[in-house]
Amino acid sequence: MRICVYPGSFDPITNGHLDIIERASGLFDKLIVGVLINTSKSPLFTAEERIHFIKKSCTHLDNIEVDSFEGLLIDFMKQKNATTIIKGLRAVSDFEYEFQMALMNRKLNPKIETIFMMTNSEYSYLSSSLVKEVARFGGCIKGLIPSVVEKEIFKKYNRR
Ligand SMILES: Nc1ncnc2c1ncn2[C@@H]1O[C@H](COP(=O)(O)OP(=O)(O)OP(=O)(O)O)[C@@H](O)[C@H]1O
Ligand SMILES: [Mg+2]
Repeated sequence: MRICVYPGSFDPITNGHLDIIERASGLFDKLIVGVLINTSKSPLFTAEERIHFIKKSCTHLDNIEVDSFEGLLIDFMKQKNATTIIKGLRAVSDFEYEFQMALMNRKLNPKIETIFMMTNSEYSYLSSSLVKEVARFGGCIKGLIPSVVEKEIFKKYNRR
């Protein structure tokens, strides 16, 4: 069974992420979305909320698992029996960091392969941070995120 992991913060999931999930899910028996719990960052949504949004957005796909992890991606992959890392590439700006990460992960476990998928041009400018920034100031984020996220993101900011 070919299992891949698509890691990220997903704070929150955007339509750019969803596009990668949909396209990659067709290439593997199982795609595990790995929600990174980074204790040095303070996310807008808890890991549970982020997982919930991803699950809600993927109900039309039948080979998706969503789970959170802390620490090394390589250890999470081992625990999940996964052999491939999926990463999305938006622009040259993503490349340098991702290149470094891919080589470090290969150093840590040479059996693990990283595969990069080009963004859909429609979403090439999209990031969770930018969506949050726009939402925080009341801008329109329709069409950039799954509808389940839209309500919740404004709720968060109104409460603050
Ligand atoms: N619009 C997009 N198109 C293709 N890939 C994307 C897109 N947005 C993010 N990705 C990829 O998804 C993975 C997870 O990214 P991450 O959780 O950092 O999202 P992000 O949108 O970059 O959020 P942040 O602004 O917090 O960094 C990375 O491999 C990233 O390159
Ligand atoms: Mg990012």
